[in-house]
Amino acid sequence: MSSADSRYTIVGATPEQQAAIDMLASQFLLTDERLGAIIKEFRRRMEEGLATDGKVLKMIPSYVTRRPLGSEVGSYFAIDLGGTNLRVLKVTLDGRGGVTSEHQKFALSEEAKSRTLFDFVAQCVDTFLDERNLRPLGQQPPIPMGLTFSYPVQQTSINSGTLVQWTKGLNVPGCVGRDVVRLLQDALLRLGLRVKIVALVNDTVGTLLSAAYSDPAAQMGIIFGTGTNAAYYEDVANLAKWKGPNPSSGEMVLNMEWGAFDSDDFAFLPFTPHDIKLDRKSINPRKQAYEKMISGMYLGEIARNIVLWLADQRLLLDGRSSEILNAMWFIDTSYLSSGAVDTTSDLSEIQQVIEKTLNISNSTFVDRQIFKVIAILVGERAARLSAVGVVATLTKRSDLLNKPVTVGIDGSMYEHYPYFHDILVETASHFIPQEQFKNINFTLAKDGSGVGAAITAMLAATYDA
Ligand code: BGC
Repeated sequence: MSSADSRYTIVGATPEQQAAIDMLASQFLLTDERLGAIIKEFRRRMEEGLATDGKVLKMIPSYVTRRPLGSEVGSYFAIDLGGTNLRVLKVTLDGRGGVTSEHQKFALSEEAKSRTLFDFVAQCVDTFLDERNLRPLGQQPPIPMGLTFSYPVQQTSINSGTLVQWTKGLNVPGCVGRDVVRLLQDALLRLGLRVKIVALVNDTVGTLLSAAYSDPAAQMGIIFGTGTNAAYYEDVANLAKWKGPNPSSGEMVLNMEWGAFDSDDFAFLPFTPHDIKLDRKSINPRKQAYEKMISGMYLGEIARNIVLWLADQRLLLDGRSSEILNAMWFIDTSYLSSGAVDTTSDLSEIQQVIEKTLNISNSTFVDRQIFKVIAILVGERAARLSAVGVVATLTKRSDLLNKPVTVGIDGSMYEHYPYFHDILVETASHFIPQEQFKNINFTLAKDGSGVGAAITAMLAATYDA
């Protein structure tokens, strides 16, 4: 790909407009050579995190050392706390690798995100149990539940761990450095609810375990959603920092917390002024640098920064803006995904977004083409960069790649962003030898995070996880 790609030629543009687009394209397009250098650094950072605590890639031991067999049966409960929603689930394992689940979804209120999170979660669990007449009474034993917690936690056992930092826009005071299971357990107690959290997993660990229940070849779980991260099975012999007992399986799932890659020195990722502006104004500056280039929470904001940069030079929308366009975080990533694939002759879908959503009238065809190019550049860079972590991790375990390997992926970017899967796979194929690459199966692990917490609850109950 080069900036001479006809997709970046704006019909009817002035030379100044085209020059600005060419400059953007040169900043956002990544050559294989550049990606190769980033992958190499990513691998180096993985090794560093395996050896020592407190590194930029945390490579957190999850205490999950087993694989589900697929033959387990029974119903297990889970709480899935994500970036946008909370779900309470009852998951039934059918013993043949299949699951059915019943769940209730609750949107995280602004108050919950900034203040009352754990009481809110406890309240939702109460509602779920109450509506199904499942609330334990009197002397009945507590209901065991798994908790998927989609934030970086330094795990201290299968059901305890301290919050390292908030990500993805949550900012509840008084939680960093504390055991999140304890915080939830206390909130449940305040409601008098007899529920015991028996397993704590990151959403990527959950995604991996849910893929593994139906597929013994599952080795890696990834989330490309509001945020991004991955987990994989590592040989404990490679985990030099592990001081605990050696598990009999010889392996452990690691929560990589890869969204933090390059946050310490901003030296390898392709930072543009638009990324730097986003980072500076975010609630977690100089943190989650990789996540900020590839996940759904941020892509809309990068695009907004570009739109304003062009408008301020009178190269877009005749220099006009609107209250809505001026509001941070307003452009949802879903507008980008629809804009990138608007194939109508007059780009009428993009016109709708500009006129109805952004409230800016009389957009020209040139304006709309520029919006489309921005959507393509930001989305495709994300998908290509996503391959960095995937390739670095899979080549770290290249010993596994001589037989089938399944990578379970969940999250809105992967599921809905046009061509995300295709670009990710195509990019990864440039960096893994063909005879190994053909063994890799990238698959959607839908709802993996919640189902995985229930599976971990099952593992915790049936054997010494
Ligand atoms: C969090 C991870 C999580 C990822 C995907 C990131 O912001 O730090 O723990 O797995 O989002 O939800």
